[in-house]
Amino acid sequence: MIHDPSLEAFIRGIPKAELHVHIEGALEPELMFTLARRNGIALPWDNVDDLRQAYDFHNLQSFLDIYYRGADVLQHVQDFYDLTFSYFKRAAEDNVRHVELFFDPQTHTRRDVPFETVITGIRGACVDAESRLGISSRMILCFLRHLSPSSALESLRLAVPFRPWICGVGLDSSEAGNPPSKFQSVFDEAREENFRVVAHAGEEGPASYIREALDLLGAQRIDHGVRCFEDEELVERLVREQIPLTVCPLSNVKLRVFPEMAQHNLKRMIDRGLMVTVNSDDPAYFGGYVADNYVAAAQALGLTRAEVVALAKNSFQASFLVHDRKLALIAEVERYAASAA
Ligand code: ADE
Ligand code: ZN
Repeated sequence: MIHDPSLEAFIRGIPKAELHVHIEGALEPELMFTLARRNGIALPWDNVDDLRQAYDFHNLQSFLDIYYRGADVLQHVQDFYDLTFSYFKRAAEDNVRHVELFFDPQTHTRRDVPFETVITGIRGACVDAESRLGISSRMILCFLRHLSPSSALESLRLAVPFRPWICGVGLDSSEAGNPPSKFQSVFDEAREENFRVVAHAGEEGPASYIREALDLLGAQRIDHGVRCFEDEELVERLVREQIPLTVCPLSNVKLRVFPEMAQHNLKRMIDRGLMVTVNSDDPAYFGGYVADNYVAAAQALGLTRAEVVALAKNSFQASFLVHDRKLALIAEVERYAASAA
């Protein structure tokens, strides 16, 4: 492992976008306990340290079980606002300039928390993040793939009155055994409503799920996608079409997709010419925010400054921002890199 403190400072300061963060995964233990007290919710952990001890995951499901339990403390508009604004404040420290955040309405509507409560709180924080922190954002509604297509469809229909606030739809939760094909008709309807489409695929599931996400759901970006190398033709296509992959290195190590960071295939992805970005996934659970992900990967894989710059540019290129804003932010990255040289 290479430790270069100047690279770390360079990474923290570089303008970047975050395209793969689950807002429920930004719920820090301290805030979880504060909200539990505020809302009179009993948690199965005695205190923050006890909860942190439980963050010893062996796969995706072992994480999701705790993540859904933690989300029970989110009850009111103010709770969703506080969670989201706390994420933005932390992201600002990493010079994040734009965020495309996931939210999981079914996690909340199943507990009788209204869709409107969830989205109003998150949206309020997005508006304030723009005016107070200068961070632009988009919201992406994710369907929980362990639930039924009819439940996903219900979530999509609840979203329609809030259409102007929602940029796109995605697919998350337990991947293995829940292929994208299960949700084809839901995504057909989402595309008819002009939602952008992304999907988690190739995190724990096989490369064939990446193909399905592209061909059956119309995904414009793949979340994770690290198992793409199991299918050489697929890799060629991802490179040719420059389909963005939102990779989350610390998540992949925490959930044992890779045994350690030195074995992560991020560098191989860059070398192959894939349109790869670096993101945090669930920063409160996986030991770091977006810059920590860049730093951990850069140190373990020996990434150069030029590669870090390319990743930061990709983060804007792969976003759903309008063309002119993308170009302006990419130019900012270039100016930053030139001034730090
Ligand atoms: N929901 C939150 N984090 C997730 C991940 N890494 N994979 C799938 N679903 C998720
Ligand atoms: Zn994710």
